[in-house]
Amino acid sequence: MAKPAFVMAASTAVVVSLLVVSCGIGIASAQAAGLKKGFYKKSCPQAEAIAQKVVWERTAGNRELAAKFLRMFFHDCFVRGCDASVLLDSPTNTAEKNAAPNLSLAGFEVIDEVKAELEEACPGVVSCADIVALAARDSVSFQYKKNLWEVETGRRDGTISSDQEALSNIPAPSSTFDILLINFSNKGLGLQDLVVLSGGHTIGIGHCNLFSSRIFNFTGKNNPSDVDPSINPPYAKFLQGQCSRNLQDPNDNTTVVPMDPGSSLSFDNHYFVSLKAHQGMFTSDATLLTNGRAANIVDKLQDPGVFFHSFKNSIKRMGQIGVLTGTNGQIRKKCNAVNSS
Ligand code: HEM
Repeated sequence: MAKPAFVMAASTAVVVSLLVVSCGIGIASAQAAGLKKGFYKKSCPQAEAIAQKVVWERTAGNRELAAKFLRMFFHDCFVRGCDASVLLDSPTNTAEKNAAPNLSLAGFEVIDEVKAELEEACPGVVSCADIVALAARDSVSFQYKKNLWEVETGRRDGTISSDQEALSNIPAPSSTFDILLINFSNKGLGLQDLVVLSGGHTIGIGHCNLFSSRIFNFTGKNNPSDVDPSINPPYAKFLQGQCSRNLQDPNDNTTVVPMDPGSSLSFDNHYFVSLKAHQGMFTSDATLLTNGRAANIVDKLQDPGVFFHSFKNSIKRMGQIGVLTGTNGQIRKKCNAVNSS
């Protein structure tokens, strides 16, 4: 039987994307060649210590910063590569940071503070892109007072930032497994990276309006108590209680819920324990259990040792996406603006 036109279109899109994937991997690793551990060892030996000092001080005063910086790093890397394009301001509000998924990012002032100290110590040497990468590692590691992963440095800063590119490259919380896989593949990341990095949702919060369609009137049949059957019922009840305001107004964006209740300030493998118990907040979380290979990885990540080891490897690969190195890009003087000359 002939396939309906939309199926043909979808499968062609998958093939094209997979072709892009295989090319994408090559591009990502060739460009990542300029990254290395301790890139600033000679040019600014105290760079990493300065970044850690400021980030730890600020994280001590606000533990939620770890989630903000981890997500900022992800959103930076997925749009034009890890080039600090997410930090740029636009007079017309058309930069990445103005796109809806980035409106809840925070901590920009801490990045600016790190940059100011680094400019004082070593003017024009340390990129904002590396500061974002270090801030993610250092804020998350604060809880353990030791570095949870190694950050390769040597990134340079981009000069372009577009809200439209942010919208088309940052995955939506409603994404299904195939869409997520394509999205990650387009960045040179694989299935293992998708599952492991989703573990970033072990810290932080989610806004109710981004998942309220899963817990209220899921079937669209005007029955408010219809819930996505893939959610564990007590967890669905908990979410309904937390998000009751969204029953009246699904777009209300004032209520947030911790993503890994009881453990949302602790970076650990508990996300995968919750996920296996069908307590993933977003469709994009729950969908990881719908694919056999992905579910198998979720099983392996029930072991904390496997999680920390795997996260180290995957976030290193994420930090290599589309980086500018060598003489490409620039070292911004201020992280929110490209250099004027
Ligand atoms: C797999 C695709 C992903 C999707 C669809 C997704 C989507 C989301 C959404 C919708 C939120 C809630 C934002 C809010 O309500 O303010 C969120 C939060 C968060 N995401 Fe993801 N995410 C994904 C992958 C990742 C990755 C790879 C990381 C990092 C390794 C990450 C780290 C975070 C963190 C730490 C938060 C909490 C932010 C906060 O507390 O403000 N996410 N994500």
